[in-house]
Amino acid sequence: MDVRRIGVVGLGAMGAGIAQVAIEAGFDVVGREVSDELGTAATERIGHFLTRKVEKGRLAQDARDAALGRLRTTTDVSELVDCDLVVEAIVEELQAKRALFVELERFCRRDTVLATNTSALSVTEIAAATASPERVVGMHFFNPAPLMPLVEVVRGELSSDDAVATALDVVDRLGKVAVPCHDTPGFVVNRVLIPLLNDCVRVLDEARVSPEALDAAMTNGAGWPMGPCTLLDLVGIDVHVHASEALYEKLRETRMAPPPRLVAMRNAGLLGRKSGRGFHGY
Ligand SMILES: NC(=O)c1ccc[n+]([C@@H]2O[C@H](COP(=O)([O-])OP(=O)(O)OC[C@H]3O[C@@H](n4cnc5c(N)ncnc54)[C@H](O)[C@@H]3O)[C@@H](O)[C@H]2O)c1
Repeated sequence: MDVRRIGVVGLGAMGAGIAQVAIEAGFDVVGREVSDELGTAATERIGHFLTRKVEKGRLAQDARDAALGRLRTTTDVSELVDCDLVVEAIVEELQAKRALFVELERFCRRDTVLATNTSALSVTEIAAATASPERVVGMHFFNPAPLMPLVEVVRGELSSDDAVATALDVVDRLGKVAVPCHDTPGFVVNRVLIPLLNDCVRVLDEARVSPEALDAAMTNGAGWPMGPCTLLDLVGIDVHVHASEALYEKLRETRMAPPPRLVAMRNAGLLGRKSGRGFHGY
């Protein structure tokens, strides 16, 4: 399908980033939030990021204004009726996503492709809430979406070739790198990265090194662009623990389970960059 209008449901950290990428690439975007205030706040955040690009000389002022002009927000799911593709980026909870997809199926055209940005839930289980699972795929963007090139395009058990092809085409037109994959827990990147980061946290105690020393070890010895503790602080300790628990539940591999040290940090509100303190202070 030749996608022109994209719906984005949930304009939080990921949804607002996805909406920004889409309007910059020339798509019309309808963003849906649960309140007008959240819709307006997301529009302002996107406008702010685009203004910064203008100030840095990476975007022309009129291109910024035209991009923002392509974004409309609403609280009403029925306003997604004209969208060719809808990307869901609401909370990472299976029941909430399944309920939303039932609503999307009710209001969207029959040929609209419905995509979920889930990190660790099953695309197939989300799709199974609908009567048309063939049009449901995963489009897993990485945080922050405007900067990270990868989008995993996930084929659920019943996804059609057409739905997958539409998602791949959109990723290409967004200027991103698509990696198509099947619907397995954690897909590609998180399947590798989550147990690896959990190992890093366990090594802190086993090798009795500080977070600073572990970061120095992995950046200088393994060539990582960022140390694991700095990366966990950036991702959010709560987000990582939640994704670890989801993967552990599915795979039952002990390396997937969040280390107790991370769970304690999450419980104490040491969430990383967003709370001002995690492994490091901000
Ligand atoms: N944060 C990350 O690093 C990251 C990376 C890749 C994928 N994801 C996935 O993206 C999704 C969103 O994550 P996030 O970090 O942006 O979360 P977030 O909490 O920042 O944003 C979620 C937004 O969805 C809104 N919302 C909730 N229910 C809604 C509904 N029914 N309709 C419309 N809006 C609704 C909330 O008001 C909130 O603004 C999750 O599935 C998450 O697993 C997150």
